[in-house]
Amino acid sequence: MNTVIVGASAGLGRAIAERLAADGHALYLIASDAQDIEALVADLGIRFSIKVSGESLDHLQAGGGNLVGAGSVSSSRGRRTNSVYAAAKSGLETYFAAMRHYMAGSRCRVQFYRLGYIQTRMTFGQRLMFPALKPEQGADAIVKNLGRDLGAVYLPWWWWGITTIIRFLPWPIFKRLNI
Ligand SMILES: NC(=O)c1ccc[n+]([C@@H]2O[C@H](COP(=O)([O-])OP(=O)(O)OC[C@H]3O[C@@H](n4cnc5c(N)ncnc54)[C@H](OP(=O)(O)O)[C@@H]3O)[C@@H](O)[C@H]2O)c1
Repeated sequence: MNTVIVGASAGLGRAIAERLAADGHALYLIASDAQDIEALVADLGIRFSIKVSGESLDHLQAGGGNLVGAGSVSSSRGRRTNSVYAAAKSGLETYFAAMRHYMAGSRCRVQFYRLGYIQTRMTFGQRLMFPALKPEQGADAIVKNLGRDLGAVYLPWWWWGITTIIRFLPWPIFKRLNI
């Protein structure tokens, strides 16, 4: 089995990595310190003869790079139809805000998108209330923004207006909406 472990260089993550390596799993290990992760990759590869590789956040900080997150406009306000998805996207946005803070001063840039509708299999066959971007249009905007210290932005930008209305709709009205 193939397993990705984030936080693999110490503590519980390391113990899980060693246990899985002993059972012959292929591993991809991620941590913040390059030396730790390189040493662990070499150690597990030699001791257990498994397929193992890894990456550290140091590469992004020192070598430069981009950390790009795909959020959603759905996290602007929890609704009965989107509870798990919106909660996950809210958590992801908070994580990216923390990563932006963590990476400040480094050569890594963090961008997070509150995405509106996109014409992908996720929306295929659905009746959408607003126009959907082509995936290529989304990609174009995201690639143009690489290298920018952007924080969280709406894509397309006009979802800002829609989500602001939804967020501030008074509860007596909001609770009647079937959205
Ligand atoms: N489409 C929209 O209208 C819309 C709106 C707002 C936000 N978003 C967000 O935009 C992002 C991309 O959405 P999309 O519309 O492009 O989706 P998509 O067409 O369904 O593509 C999703 C991609 O993610 C991979 N994937 C799914 N689950 C995975 C998992 N557990 N581990 C690893 N890879 C996984 C899929 O590969 P496999 O098929 O191999 O799993 C596929 O390559 C998502 O985060 C989505 O929430 C989309």
